[in-house]
Amino acid sequence: MNNTPTYHASIIVTNEIEVELGKILSRYPKDKIFLVTESNCDIFCCNMIDQTPGFENLKKVVIPAGEENKKLSSVEKIWLFLSQNGADRKSLVVNLGGGMLTDLGSFAASTIKRGMDFVNIPTTLLSQVDASVGGKTGFNFNGLKNEIGVINQPISVLIDTRFLQTIDTPNIISGYAEMIKHGLIYSKEHLEEIRNFDLKNRDLNILGGIIARSVAIKDSFVFRDPNENNIRKALNFGHTIGHAFESLAMESPNPLLHGYAVAYGMIAELYLSYKMCDLPMATVTELSDWLIDLYGKYVIQQESYVALYSLMTHDKKNEGTRVNFTLIPYIGEVAINQNCDKNLVFEALDYFIKINC
Ligand SMILES: NC(=O)c1ccc[n+]([C@@H]2O[C@H](COP(=O)([O-])OP(=O)(O)OC[C@H]3O[C@@H](n4cnc5c(N)ncnc54)[C@H](O)[C@@H]3O)[C@@H](O)[C@H]2O)c1
Ligand SMILES: [Zn+2]
Repeated sequence: MNNTPTYHASIIVTNEIEVELGKILSRYPKDKIFLVTESNCDIFCCNMIDQTPGFENLKKVVIPAGEENKKLSSVEKIWLFLSQNGADRKSLVVNLGGGMLTDLGSFAASTIKRGMDFVNIPTTLLSQVDASVGGKTGFNFNGLKNEIGVINQPISVLIDTRFLQTIDTPNIISGYAEMIKHGLIYSKEHLEEIRNFDLKNRDLNILGGIIARSVAIKDSFVFRDPNENNIRKALNFGHTIGHAFESLAMESPNPLLHGYAVAYGMIAELYLSYKMCDLPMATVTELSDWLIDLYGKYVIQQESYVALYSLMTHDKKNEGTRVNFTLIPYIGEVAINQNCDKNLVFEALDYFIKINC
């Protein structure tokens, strides 16, 4: 693809993960390498790297799986494990897991003894295309997602699609939303290859190529603006309304996976793109229909508008009563810092209800 950027961070997409990991492990003292993983990945993923030279000496800590464990006590468990096993500034932490685990392990490694090197080995599609790259680390606190955290880059991210063999379909489709987002904000060609991929009969080699291009897009925005002062905001497309959907659903009996919330958020924000940036309405409708096909219908009530809007205005990225959006004037381009008022946001929610009927 002619406009795919190249990586700045050390991101390696491979189907020889043990070779790549072995090269990294060989640079560290044998007794200074630590594996951080979670209970599901301990069962499903460790066996893919346990033949790596150097692995036999490696000390391991296992955190219980699940977003509810992305919390301070889990970080404490990792800190304690590292501290009691002689980790120091020359050590390496290997994080093996989905976004929950890579956020948590990266934070623990970044903060203990003022920081040690860490490698991320993401094992879900969402973490392969998004969470493990970009340096955002942290955990949930006081009922708020990712409330505590730092930005700190891994020395490397090793991506192997064979981990995805044991991922359920909803979690695959959830990760897919972030790839779709990358296509919408950066490359029409990338969007097309995503649309052409056969999700039902997944060919992991083909998917590996698409992931490589998708993650390169994320990396290019992160490289230009690591601390999200300007252009990195492009990656927030679909997330302002998506986070509000996700937070509201969190309190209901049917919580939304992150990627589903983002897909629904993108539908509403495509409409805002039409209103604010002249994205053609025909494009909005066509993409919305496709997203509903992929993610299924999602019912929201007009009675929820006020609560949703309040969640958007309380988002840490917003000030006052207007909401700051990243929108797309056309596929492959972004317009950041688009402020929309309440009436317009409600109109976008009306469109969302209409398209779901
Ligand atoms: N740092 C960032 O930039 C960033 C970006 C997006 C999301 N995130 C974070 O990522 C998290 C969501 O990531 P996720 O969707 O990967 O969730 P997750 O890590 O909770 O994984 C989802 C489920 O899949 C299981 N799992 C993981 N790998 C598996 C495998 N190979 N086989 C079978 N089961 C496996 C997990 O145990 C879990 O039950 C959230 O905490 C979110 O805040 C961070
Ligand atoms: Zn996201």
